[in-house]
Amino acid sequence: MQHFDTRIFQLDEIDAAAQEIQQGHLVSFPTETVYGLGADATNEQAVKQVYLAKGRPSDNPLIVHIASREMAEKYAAHIPDKAYKLMDHFWPGSLTMIFKIKPHSLSKTVTGGLKTAAFRFPDCQPTLDLIKRAGVPLVGPSANTSGKPSPTTAQHVYHDLHGKIAGILDNGPTRVGVESTVLDMSGDHPVILRPGAVTKEQIEAVIGSIDLNHHHVGKNETPKAPGMKYKHYAPAAQVYIVDSGTDWGQVIEWVQQQPFDVGIMAEEKVLQNASLPMNASQFSLGNGVKDASARLFDGLREFDDEQNVKAIVCQAFPAEGLGEAYMNRLNKSAGGVHFLAVDKS
Ligand code: TXA
Ligand code: MG
Repeated sequence: MQHFDTRIFQLDEIDAAAQEIQQGHLVSFPTETVYGLGADATNEQAVKQVYLAKGRPSDNPLIVHIASREMAEKYAAHIPDKAYKLMDHFWPGSLTMIFKIKPHSLSKTVTGGLKTAAFRFPDCQPTLDLIKRAGVPLVGPSANTSGKPSPTTAQHVYHDLHGKIAGILDNGPTRVGVESTVLDMSGDHPVILRPGAVTKEQIEAVIGSIDLNHHHVGKNETPKAPGMKYKHYAPAAQVYIVDSGTDWGQVIEWVQQQPFDVGIMAEEKVLQNASLPMNASQFSLGNGVKDASARLFDGLREFDDEQNVKAIVCQAFPAEGLGEAYMNRLNKSAGGVHFLAVDKS
């Protein structure tokens, strides 16, 4: 792989970033959810570099980021009426929609060989400007090393990908912190393949009942959203989910008994009331599920960089509304392991 001196582009350097894209190089771009790893979606060689830089399996298709409805219409074979209604409400925004595409309109490297593609109109003006100036849609998986938590700052991206990409367009920390909702609009009935910032309830308020299908997919099954079968969001330390209603006193007691350092991720009010042992490091999730979603990946990454932290205990929230997306990500980073299961053994 070619080596790059990865540049940090400021917001007044969007032209320079767009030129890199036009040359077939990779530039990480901000969105309201997480940072993406951008390449010209119409340049097959550039898209291949995205998989290489991330270490991403090549059957996992990429989201196509667009800056206008027309850009999606250029590739989509059919956009149902319900999808236009959803665009009226949620574009630009954190709702990614999957449509059937015109044959051969996007390369196999983008679609992973599927007859559909995912389209996203991010709610982030610098990136919309970048797309317009580059003149092409951008593929954009989250700009992390495959398997690691998604990046919510330019520094996270730099940590994972410096030397491998031309640059990063820095727009500060992202606002939402969990990735977009992926909604499959290519079949008879709309299905959420990945819960995200736009909730099932919000979508149903616009188009009526939809399905939620983010069950765990076995290694040999062909999943609807190919990304679902891979290990995700996992720091090196084991993450334990601390369910609502768990006595934090018990958690702290367990932490104290461990022969290594433990990261504690919890709301401000939990941390304020706890007296933490010497081997505990704390990371505040703020107040409520919105703050927690914005901070989750940052906390997991912070502890991932601390060699001595071998376990992380992280607060659960009710899996409703945005909590559905938060718990989906937390569950994956913990591999489904809960604190109580440990406590009883
Ligand atoms: O918020 C986001 O969506 C971020 C920002 C950068 O836009 N992007 C992101 O991309 O999370 P990525 O590649 O990490 O996740 C995209 C997910 C994967 O699970 C992938 O398998 C699924 O969407 N996906 C993409 N195209 C698909 C398709 N045609 N059919 C089914 N699933 C698809
Ligand atoms: Mg990702």
